[in-house]
Amino acid sequence: MLTLMVRILFLGEITGRPGIAALKNGLAELRTEYSIDYTIANGEGMTNGFGIGKAHSLQLSKLGVDTVTGAEKLFYKLDMVDFIPKAGFILRPANYPPQCPGRGFRHVTIGDGRFVIINLQGNSNFPRQNIQNAFFAIDGILKKISESGSNEIPIVIFHAETTAEKKTMKFYLDGRVAAVIGTHSKVITADEDVTGKGTAYITDIGRVGSFLSAGGFDPETEIQKLKSQLPVRSRECWNDGVIEGVAVTIDESTGRAEDITRIVKHVTIKEPAGNQG
Ligand SMILES: [Fe+2]
Repeated sequence: MLTLMVRILFLGEITGRPGIAALKNGLAELRTEYSIDYTIANGEGMTNGFGIGKAHSLQLSKLGVDTVTGAEKLFYKLDMVDFIPKAGFILRPANYPPQCPGRGFRHVTIGDGRFVIINLQGNSNFPRQNIQNAFFAIDGILKKISESGSNEIPIVIFHAETTAEKKTMKFYLDGRVAAVIGTHSKVITADEDVTGKGTAYITDIGRVGSFLSAGGFDPETEIQKLKSQLPVRSRECWNDGVIEGVAVTIDESTGRAEDITRIVKHVTIKEPAGNQG
């Protein structure tokens, strides 16, 4: 049987300018090092940690990211609302209401295989949610793919708050999709595996930005925020740049994941002169 392997890189949440600097200094090398065919990144924190503007999403594309995902922070920058219908490379969660602009999944060719990348947001612990249950949403999408007679290989990005919900999704989709990749916490977990049925899984792929930080932000400011109960503005952090994520190898002939490799690559990032204020 013909075996065609592709390797997909999934990058954790890109956090502000330090995240952009880390990508500029390390992504090309990383792609070569791991023989990457396709790159998917969470971009919802690219603009100062909160949202992603049109210009930054285009920059991400130029830096070599093929698909950008986002969830609860995706529309913090209002120009994304107008831009996303024209930007096929950006995915909002598929379980957002139909009135929400943009799309939640896309069909792509990687190597010689056809894939469908699906972005979902979890239902646990997000405030002000008016979204569909992620489990019913994915059932509907997979049913449509199956009924269309397509042999596309599904890949799921699951942007969820709780580990329990992410793990439950792993078992729900076991053998039905090639990968269930968790995002949102900005802390990479050490529970990556490939199930016996060929589904690659990790609870969270962490962040791209500052390693020695509080969620990518300056720890002192975050301490003040939590101690004062005031809406203190988070500040970017330039300590120890890192690119976190996973590389997943998928066999196009079977649709099964063959391996998943956790990546924590430290890269040099430099705070611009005169940045303190
Ligand atoms: Fe998030």
